[in-house]
Amino acid sequence: MKVAIIGGDGIGPEVIAEGVRVLEWFRACRGIELDLWHLDLGAERYLRDGSTFPDDVRRTIAEECAAVLLGALGDARVPNFEHAREILFGMRFGFDLYANVRPVRALADRVVPLRGRSAEDVNFVVFRENTEGIYAGIGGQLRRGTADEIAINEDINTRKGVERIVRAAFEYARRTGRRRVHMADKSNAMRHAHELWQRVFREVRAEYPEIEAEHVYIDALCFELVRDPSQFDVIVTNNLFGDIVTDLGAALQGGLGVAASVSLNPADSGRVKLFEPVHGSAPKLVGLGRANPVASLLCVALLFEELGFRAAAVELEAAVAGAVNAGETTPDLGGSLGTRGATDAVLARLALS
Ligand code: NAD
Ligand code: IPM
Ligand code: MN
Repeated sequence: MKVAIIGGDGIGPEVIAEGVRVLEWFRACRGIELDLWHLDLGAERYLRDGSTFPDDVRRTIAEECAAVLLGALGDARVPNFEHAREILFGMRFGFDLYANVRPVRALADRVVPLRGRSAEDVNFVVFRENTEGIYAGIGGQLRRGTADEIAINEDINTRKGVERIVRAAFEYARRTGRRRVHMADKSNAMRHAHELWQRVFREVRAEYPEIEAEHVYIDALCFELVRDPSQFDVIVTNNLFGDIVTDLGAALQGGLGVAASVSLNPADSGRVKLFEPVHGSAPKLVGLGRANPVASLLCVALLFEELGFRAAAVELEAAVAGAVNAGETTPDLGGSLGTRGATDAVLARLALS
């Protein structure tokens, strides 16, 4: 199986290098045969030769790769996120990876920021629609730069798009034994688009009578996530709300340094899957050797899980949890280790397991 590796921008290459070390360890010590294909894509490449996401790369990923491991994109030298949009959305939209699955699970009591809460209270999964909504890029500007200017981004919600993500959330709940699915929208204000979400949710939930189905407005969801995160199992929502609420989720699980995600097409298990930390390129941390590698390592664990190496996924997650529990972490989690040292701590635990 071929895995494309894209470090990307900012701290992306630093954290992905650690993910690759762990992948290499599993290759050497657990016989997991993955063929790593290192790609030079991101701001540096763009500034050098103007390439963003070349067609031949796009085709090879689609035809030959089981997975892509991507660090982060975003560089102040490239205005308007241009190259990043082509690479990131080139994969999410271009490969029709309609489910952005973001597990929010605290690995240790010590990283949960809420008073009186423990790790077992933070354990849910967000299904974020990943191919439409406000991210579709439809819109325009009129009379730009004048006092009368108008800027529009359309919010695209299709019957097909809403139904398949809602169904993916229920299917996941059924398959993994999760009891409850919450659908989060803003149907009280967005009466056209989100009335569609309401209707589809009502229809789909009827096919899953064993799963508790609840509706929650997105603003109330933010409130409830902080008040009592333990009530959530699976949350399904649109692209923009999913983006925002998973940063909130990241805070509940210990920070952006530990939040992992996968974008996939649940209707086509043979299709390439995109694994990314939830965090961005963190420009202020670049080159300091302090970026937390855990999100990247948990992406590797998710990759093992999704590609059918379940034992490896469990083993890696346990080693990461062990290190986080013991405080063998970067400063964002209260430890004193660097990016490399925090990975070494995980590798040391793996060596003992
Ligand atoms: P960010 O996630 O880069 O940083 C937010 C905060 O989290 C910062 O304080 C940062 O230092 C901290 N942080 C992030 N990752 C960390 C890690 N691994 N270890 C320790 N601390 C970490 O978000 P931002 O500052 O809003 O965005 C910076 C750039 O990244 C922008 O260009 C943005 O568009 C881009 N971005 C890209 C992605 C992606 O590629 N998937 C995701 C989010 C943001
Ligand atoms: C994420 C990021 C991206 C998003 C940005 C960089 C476009 O914030 O993956 O969470 O909004 O999807
Ligand atoms: Mn985000």
